[in-house]
Amino acid sequence: MQEHIGSELATRIEESLAERFGERLQVDPTLPGLEELARIAGHRVHRDFLGRPVEPALLRLLCACALSAPSKSDLQQADILIVDDREQRQAIMALMPDMPWLTRAPVLLVFLADGSRTPQLARLRGKPFPNDHLDLLFNAAVDSAIVLTTFLRAAAAVGLGCCPLSAIRDEAAQVSKLLELPQRVIPVAGLAAGWPATAGRITPRLALETTLHQDRYRQGELDRQIDAYDRRRAAAQPYARQRAVERFGEAEFYGWSEDKARQYAEPLRSDFGGFVRMKGFCLD
Ligand SMILES: Cc1cc2nc3c(=O)[nH]c(=O)nc-3n(C[C@H](O)[C@H](O)[C@H](O)COP(=O)(O)O)c2cc1C
Repeated sequence: MQEHIGSELATRIEESLAERFGERLQVDPTLPGLEELARIAGHRVHRDFLGRPVEPALLRLLCACALSAPSKSDLQQADILIVDDREQRQAIMALMPDMPWLTRAPVLLVFLADGSRTPQLARLRGKPFPNDHLDLLFNAAVDSAIVLTTFLRAAAAVGLGCCPLSAIRDEAAQVSKLLELPQRVIPVAGLAAGWPATAGRITPRLALETTLHQDRYRQGELDRQIDAYDRRRAAAQPYARQRAVERFGEAEFYGWSEDKARQYAEPLRSDFGGFVRMKGFCLD
């Protein structure tokens, strides 16, 4: 029985990764932890949720699991903010008008980089603080991203679906004001969560030959690799519509690289550095 489950999970992982990377990896069916690996390999974001609420106790449990993530130098510079109040949620969501599906998400969280406590420790203990530089922000942002990732894993384990939201930073100053974030605390990402209404689907990624390096960074034939990825991805999951047709016209073949090139042909959040400085972080 156990053997049967192991080989089923191993096949599932192999299939997910083949869909993801266009390459079949061999998975040993006797490996421990295959269930967790199957969930990780089968990751997909969810933007479509059932009306069923998420119990506050479950949400608290998932947040506690997420905040159990490792923390740089044990400094503990990542926080989670649960946006539950109806008016508060509506005010935040109004700042992300391109994502109407958000209104159907029962849970809205904001993952914060909290660089406020470390200088407070110096003050509290009467010590100098010669570390007010970019690394303070970077460490807090990395910790916050790890906590977010751990939340995704915890949520997936209980069957919840999630979608991170960088869009929370589109109007970062207004979000900061609404959430009453003190100096040196900034939003890294929002997160919508709920019970998924659909199975969702795996999004193909760049091949492992592009993103997995051995001993030294190898750029390889990036143009060819991107072209191959565009074709593989378009065969599995073509784009439903083209971006900025009025500016760039209708492309005969519209792949991932064309979409990302068009997306980044517009300045995006170019005021974010100013916001981060305004919140008291030093970027030097
Ligand atoms: C940090 C971060 C921010 C994201 N922000 C948004 C967002 O603002 N809106 C959105 O619809 N999806 C957002 N996403 C989801 C990505 O679009 C999604 O992960 C990507 O398309 C790949 O799909 P997959 O996660 O299902 O593999 C974000 C993902 C991450 C990791």
